[in-house]
Amino acid sequence: MPERSCLAIVLAAGEGTRMRSAHPKVLHAIAGQSLLTHVLTAVRAAGGSAAAVVVGPDAAAVEAEAKRALPGAETFVQAQRLGTAHAVLAAKPAIVRRPDDILIIFADTPLIRPQTLMRMRAALAAGAAVAVLGFRPADPAGYGRLLVKDGELVGIREEIDANADERAIALCNGGLMAFAGDSALAILERIGNANRKGEYYLTDAVAIARRMELRAVAIETEEDEVRGINTRAQLAETEAALQQRLRKAAMEAGVTLVAPETVFLSADTKFGRDVVVEPFVYFAQGVTVEDNATIRSFCHLDRAHVGKGAIVGPFARLRPGAQLGEDVHIGNFVEVKGSTIEAGAKANHLTYIGDTTVGARANVGAGTITCNYDGIAKHRTEIGKGAFIGSNSSLVAPVKIGDGAYVGSGSVITQDVPADALALGRGRQSIKEGWALRLRALKSAAKKKPAAE
Ligand code: UD1
Ligand code: MG
Repeated sequence: MPERSCLAIVLAAGEGTRMRSAHPKVLHAIAGQSLLTHVLTAVRAAGGSAAAVVVGPDAAAVEAEAKRALPGAETFVQAQRLGTAHAVLAAKPAIVRRPDDILIIFADTPLIRPQTLMRMRAALAAGAAVAVLGFRPADPAGYGRLLVKDGELVGIREEIDANADERAIALCNGGLMAFAGDSALAILERIGNANRKGEYYLTDAVAIARRMELRAVAIETEEDEVRGINTRAQLAETEAALQQRLRKAAMEAGVTLVAPETVFLSADTKFGRDVVVEPFVYFAQGVTVEDNATIRSFCHLDRAHVGKGAIVGPFARLRPGAQLGEDVHIGNFVEVKGSTIEAGAKANHLTYIGDTTVGARANVGAGTITCNYDGIAKHRTEIGKGAFIGSNSSLVAPVKIGDGAYVGSGSVITQDVPADALALGRGRQSIKEGWALRLRALKSAAKKKPAAE
């Protein structure tokens, strides 16, 4: 079968008043990505070859996010909010190109799965002109009801316009619809606004298609997938649902999560096989963890890479640009940023490694600090292969420690250290023999003296 082209129209013109936010609703994030990006990622995975994002006026930030998530995305402005069908028609220039399939998705419904979008497209490929995503909510209040007769979808009734019998219907409109490209425009342009809200309802498309002797079908899915977000509480509930989904997927792919409910993932977190994640770990965006690595409790990782067999934590922080090679050990209270740690190197306790290259098998002692910032600019530190940095040393960047070199504990290193050398940068120790003994003798003599009148 030749591949069918697919246009996704994403409605993002809502004001999101109930979020009580200075930012557009669809830019709020769950699992490290904006709601809009979640939807556009699903669209791409479902074979969407083009995307049209409908935004409200003055929505430059939403337009920029759409293009960041899907570089080919077009944006269209709906100047006035006159209803969901009116919003879809803002993207008319994309509709007239007659893609085979048109998917209509709300940008505040981030849990939609690509498989479900594919099922809707399959219904179009099988001859339906309109496919509607239905679900059976625990509480149907506020949703449009799907009117099904003899297995065919004959209409959708918005709750406000429904009679008592129609309100009793359990199957509701999840809001997502798919249209065959060859009849979409004819249907959409016939939608009027003669209803109690005076809005152009996208849902009227079903009855209109029937009158045009075209077929409409309902595709059913679970409530989670069509969960819409209007408030911060719903944002948190949706985050929780997505976290469960991501944890399950990680475990199915061969990751051990010792206490899954305590691990927070991003939508783009990538794991190899037999990774073990101990309780209470947070993965911000852009983290990859390779096979057999262990992330111990209470770690925070952000745009970082953990190589095969590496051990991180407990209580470690990997900041953007932390690249750990194979079998690296990063221990408790160690922070790594913008640094490459080569295979087998170790920094096990109380250390800051910033803008640094740590050579293979090097050992960075407890309390080592790379002083990468001089108050004006950041500078790099290079630690050679197999080098040994004694505890509580400060490496003042820019500085290079040669391969196999030693740095004595407590040193402040301001000059490059040649390979295989020992560098000492600290006050010389002096010894005063018997000094403590003399001090104690003086003290006890003072005590024995009778107090002066
Ligand atoms: C809509 C459906 C309803 C369904 C419900 C599922 C219609 C007429 N009704 O109702 O059957 O059960 O979703 O959640 O479609 N939007 C615009 N421009 C507009 C109007 C809306 O961009 O002029 C966007 C909104 O920002 C939102 C989406 O379209 O993302 C849906 O609009 P909303 O007002 O939430 O529709 P509902 O009344 O919830
Ligand atoms: Mg709604």
